[in-house]
Amino acid sequence: MSERHLEFRTLLKSNAEAVEALLASLLSADVRTDEIARPERLLAAMRHGVLNGGKRLRPFLVIETAALFPNVEREAALRVGAALECIHCYSLVHDDLPAMDDDDLRRGQPTVHIAFDEAAAILAGDGLLTLAFDIVAAPETRLPDATRTALVLALSRAAGIGGMVGGQGLDLAAEKEAPDEDGIVTLQAMKTGALLRFACEAGAIVAGASAEDRATLRRYGETVGLAFQIADDLLDLTADAKTMGKATGKDAERGKATLVSRRGQAWAEHRLKELVTEAEALLAPFSHRAGILVETAHFIANRRN
Ligand code: IPE
Ligand code: IPE
Ligand code: MG
Ligand code: MG
Ligand code: MG
Repeated sequence: MSERHLEFRTLLKSNAEAVEALLASLLSADVRTDEIARPERLLAAMRHGVLNGGKRLRPFLVIETAALFPNVEREAALRVGAALECIHCYSLVHDDLPAMDDDDLRRGQPTVHIAFDEAAAILAGDGLLTLAFDIVAAPETRLPDATRTALVLALSRAAGIGGMVGGQGLDLAAEKEAPDEDGIVTLQAMKTGALLRFACEAGAIVAGASAEDRATLRRYGETVGLAFQIADDLLDLTADAKTMGKATGKDAERGKATLVSRRGQAWAEHRLKELVTEAEALLAPFSHRAGILVETAHFIANRRN
């Protein structure tokens, strides 16, 4: 293992621990200002959907893209990362519902609708979605008002009808009528890519970076986003449930058209290499400061779970 890869692994772990500690406190039983009560069972369902492992890759990207810039508020980046992780976890809780992918296992544990029930899973997802915007807007996120507004807007656009939610809709429709390749690329850029793009762009927003740097990180996010879903589809074909902590072989079972199913494994592996090279080239203006993000692109393409 190279030294840089070891450094990446250590940082992934320490950032994940910081995010989890923050998420645990945000999902504690303490009633916040203007809240009336936190119903125990629903809160437990939300905690089940969030505090259950997970790579915490999206918060990692927020924190590490912000860290490219001098004098950045690390705590603010951590909070934005935690907010994004709430949206990601809500998307997984709903994605696993019987009306969607109908999965029983997530992150090695029973999915929320199995551990609780479907209504609790729907409401836990709703609660997490709303909590995400609470976290960004709260005064504890010490950023100028204009920065918090920019984050709320960018996160809304990434998560909503024109982003993740829209992509999930297209993904389900694709089980009935297979889209062409451009259609697959678009739906993947939406369902998975939009949140990853936000993760990288958010670092620049938190840091008050130039428009040019923000655009570069946005493109880096789009590139690793494409790679992320190709790797997910490849792993669905090649990995086992124990390693993944979720069922595999599902895409073929449901007749889901993916780039991997259309083009095959060798093509996908080659495409992943190309995307990593593109991501690296985009980071060139940040020179050695972007070493960790270069390593992250490799990790996203070559991950084993
Ligand atoms: C899985 O995302 C869902 C997709 C967007 C394909 P991750 O692989 O990041 O899942 P966790 O958060 O580590 O469990
Ligand atoms: C899920 O994609 C993407 C979102 C939840 C937004 P998948 O359905 O492929 O994710 P897994 O394989 O269940 O993690
Ligand atoms: Mg799905
Ligand atoms: Mg799924
Ligand atoms: Mg999948």
